[in-house]
Amino acid sequence: MEKIYMAGPWITEHEVKTVLDAMQNGWYEHPYDYVEKFQKEFAAYHGRKFGIMTPNATSAIHLLLTALGIKAGDEVIVPDCTWIASAAPISYVGAVPVFCDIDRANWCLDPEAVERAITPKTKAIIAVDLFGNMPDMDAIKALADRRGLILIEDSAEALGSTYHGVRAGKFGVGSVFSFHRTKTLVTGEGGMLLLDDEKLFDRCMILRDHGRKPGGAMYYNYEVTYKYMPFNLQAALGYAQFQRLDELVGRKRWIFDKYKEKLADIPDLQFNAEPDKGFNSVWITGLVFGKSHNMNKPDAIAGLDKMGLPLRPFFYPLSSLPAYPGFEERYRKLNPVAYDVSSRGVNLPGALNLTEDQIDAMCDGIRALLKRSR
Ligand SMILES: Cc1ncc(COP(=O)(O)O)c(C=O)c1O
Repeated sequence: MEKIYMAGPWITEHEVKTVLDAMQNGWYEHPYDYVEKFQKEFAAYHGRKFGIMTPNATSAIHLLLTALGIKAGDEVIVPDCTWIASAAPISYVGAVPVFCDIDRANWCLDPEAVERAITPKTKAIIAVDLFGNMPDMDAIKALADRRGLILIEDSAEALGSTYHGVRAGKFGVGSVFSFHRTKTLVTGEGGMLLLDDEKLFDRCMILRDHGRKPGGAMYYNYEVTYKYMPFNLQAALGYAQFQRLDELVGRKRWIFDKYKEKLADIPDLQFNAEPDKGFNSVWITGLVFGKSHNMNKPDAIAGLDKMGLPLRPFFYPLSSLPAYPGFEERYRKLNPVAYDVSSRGVNLPGALNLTEDQIDAMCDGIRALLKRSR
């Protein structure tokens, strides 16, 4: 059997042709043609007014926090279980990340825990759509409105998901997407910031390009900012992938459905949430072993590794990592669900080239692992 990959893209002749076009023609009068097309159509697809392509989603969050004026002394609430990129930009602007517990059902922010985490210093909430799952956005939006907090959506992992008919990426003042080579839609490295507010958009455009005004005077900088400009070749790849989005999301769903179907005979396994009024585009399949299995994350990973099969750990609580020294003692008590779910959770391979035979092998491996642990 071919090697099983955790993540990886699906590139066709269409992408090759589109990137070749950018390579041959995207210079001189046309240096940003694909960037502009991609930003515009991607924003429209999400019902947003503005799209700003960035080198990655991390820089998109950094731009947005800076444009919103989040600064030293402010607190920003973020779920404890997510990739560090959701939280790192909070530190870039000198603010403090406040790690919040997650909802056992969807592994995203728990609105009640958010309420408990709010202090007079809280300025914003970053809600993360983990693995394609979405939090209880109605409750989080209502809470943010009631407490006068800015809501930001980190939809990096949720391209194609919907919540009550609204696309992931349409919540809060701004949202971000990642096109990292491991995502559903890839540009290798790349990201997008989506906004509705024109002033915020203007501010982010200045911040993205060394304090210059778009279309403004040559070599004329109004302030010292960042250089987070996108590259037309990246955008060409992203645009071509975007035109195939239904196919890409369809394949992700196929992978998820196969795992669920083939493991359906094993009780007490939890997969990505599929709420009634939502669609989960399942960037990656999460699997949390119920307590009856007596199986933890490191044992599961080691057990499958012995069979030559890959798994990835469910995100560690950020507060437990060396990157945040001294946080664990406080947050282990505050965020019991994050610590518990993460300790029993893994991610299954979700590369877009995964075959049914490989999914069978993974499911057989999991079945053997769980039999052995009983
Ligand atoms: C939830 C989440 N937020 C942010 C990011 C950051 O994306 P990037 O790697 O494009 O900076 C990622 C992906 O890596 C992610 O999974």
